[in-house]
Parts: sequence; structure tokens; C-alpha cells
Amino acid sequence: MAKVTVVGAGFVGATVAQYIADKDLADVVVVDVIEGMPQGKSLDLTQAAPLLGHDRRLFGTNDYSDTKNSDIVVITAGIARKPGMSRDDLLKTNASIVQSVVKETIKLSSEAIFLVVTNPLDVMTYLTWKISRLPAPRVLGMAGVLDSARFQAFIAAELGFSAKDIRCMVLGGHGDLMVPLPRYCSVNGVPITELLSKDKLDALVKRTRDGGAEIVALLKAGSAFYAPGASVALMVEAILKDTHRLLPCAVYAQGEYGLKDVYVGLPAVLSRGGVEKIVELKLHDDELGALKRSADSIRENVEVMTKLLVTA
Ligand code: APR
Repeated sequence: MAKVTVVGAGFVGATVAQYIADKDLADVVVVDVIEGMPQGKSLDLTQAAPLLGHDRRLFGTNDYSDTKNSDIVVITAGIARKPGMSRDDLLKTNASIVQSVVKETIKLSSEAIFLVVTNPLDVMTYLTWKISRLPAPRVLGMAGVLDSARFQAFIAAELGFSAKDIRCMVLGGHGDLMVPLPRYCSVNGVPITELLSKDKLDALVKRTRDGGAEIVALLKAGSAFYAPGASVALMVEAILKDTHRLLPCAVYAQGEYGLKDVYVGLPAVLSRGGVEKIVELKLHDDELGALKRSADSIRENVEVMTKLLVTA
């Protein structure tokens, strides 16, 4: 029986637990620092089980010993972006939270795969890899799946077609410098460039880039959680079921796309061991340039974070 620990029982963490149980993927332990909250949400989700027809156990706790021997540890602990706050404003607070979460969980689940959700995503994934000392294929971040889903949803709405048939790939960092690739976008194999004008596509690319901020502005408090939760569940499914799906994930580049020593969104094949391989696409010069700029910005933030953590 697979066991997934979700650290952080806030909006994203609780939604991750909900979708993992609904999809009948694993038993879920939800951990948070707030007393009673993970217990209450897990109890509520447990009471939904007879209605939804799964037998997954959901357990809320404030005690890391309950996370022992997890197959996957999902990290959502941290503070969410507020209106007007850039992702990078989150850096210092979330870095110290993620650092402490990794230290607590790795000693109890040294065989686990770590899936990071806390923002700024690519930097937090790098930090998780550093602190855990795990091999890079066992540490990855969720961003590209979400950014691609947003792009797909906007294209489906624009065309009036089923969202299921739209396939897209968004690479790069999870931020203003993300790299949507319309060239690789299709409706069941029909290139999107044949169905939408360049101007329309550019507008949808822009909306995708601002996808998180649009929701933050509407919610007023907190940030997106349904699509992020569903994105994590999809990645958890690919790993636990060993499906070898090709998904854009924050992975550790070791020369691919000319990038080195950086966690950034690239197409990756997911299997039971985590990241089985990174697939190198033949990108055009402008696409490669955008990817490099994105990676450079992540690297700068990693440096800032390293200094902040030293002085904290
Ligand atoms: N250990 C465990 N849980 C923690 C810790 C910690 N050290 N510090 C904070 N938390 C918990 C909070 O108590 C809170 O319940 O993390 C939870 C975060 O939940 P929310 O504030 O609801 O934030 P959420 O919307 O879930 O976003 C979480 O995911 O998408 C990203 O940008 C988002 O970084 C943010 C993260």
C-alpha cells in the first residue's frame, strides 16, 4: 500500500490529499504545524470516502513520526503569495520553512521521492535536493504541469473544444520567465498554430504567464489550489503507477539544453524511481534563449536564498 505524506495542510496540501484519495492512489498523511487543522481536514476527507467510493486512509497529524516510510513526500508548507507580492518576496520565509520540513522528513523516509510545491518553486526544489542529499532523480518540483494545464484550459475556452484534447508543454521556471511553447501545442495532433492566429496565441501565452497572479488578484487572500492540487496528483499517479508519462517538471539539469546545476522546468519521463530521464527537444534559438534567461534568474535566486539562509 503506497503512502504519501503531504506537508502543509493548507489550501494546496488539503486539495492534494483530496485528489490523491479520490484517484485511489495512496494512503495520505497530512502534516501541519497548526494543531487540529490537519486532523480536522483528514477527518472530513475520510467522511467523504463512502460517498466517493474509495478505501484510502487519510490521517492528519502534527507529529512527523507519523510520516515514517513514505513513498512520496509532497512539500506544500509555506506562506502563499498575497496580492502585490512577487514570488521572490516569499523566498526567505519559505526557504527556512522548507529547510526545516526536509530535515524532519528525510530522516524518517530516506527512500522517498520528494515533490516540491512551495514557491518560489524552482528554488525550493533546489533547496530540497541540497538539504536532503538525495540523488537528483528523486527530487522534483511541480510547476510545468500546472502552467501547461492553464495554457490548455485557455486554448480550450478560446476554441470551444474539449480541454482533454489540448496538449501543451510549458518549460522554464515557474514565474514571469516561464517558457510556453506554442510550437509543441496541438489539438489531438493538429498543430495549434493552424487553429489560432499568432496574435491570439500571444495573448493566451501572456494569460498563462500571468495565470497565478490572475487568481491571486481575484481571491484577494491566498493563491490557486484546485489546479495545483490536481497537478500534484497527476505527478504522484505517474510515479506510483510507473506510467513513464512525459511531463514538464522542475528537474535538475546536468548539461541538458546547455543548462547546468539548476532546477528548472524541462520535459521529463516520470517512473517509480522519480525522474527517469530528461528529454531534449530541438528548440529554436529564441526558445533556448528564453529557457536560459529563466534558468539564470532561478540561479540568481538560489544565490540570494543561500545568503539569506546563512544570515538567518
Ligand atoms: N511545517 C508544516 N507546515 C507548515 C510549516 C511548517 N514548518 N510552516 C507553515 N506550514 C503550513 C501552514 O500552517 C499552512 O497551513 O503550510 C500551510 C500553507 O497553507 P496555505 O497558507 O493555505 O497556503 P497554500 O495556498 O496551501 O500554498 C502553499 O504552495 O502553491 C504554493 O505559493 C504557494 O508556497 C505556497 C504553497
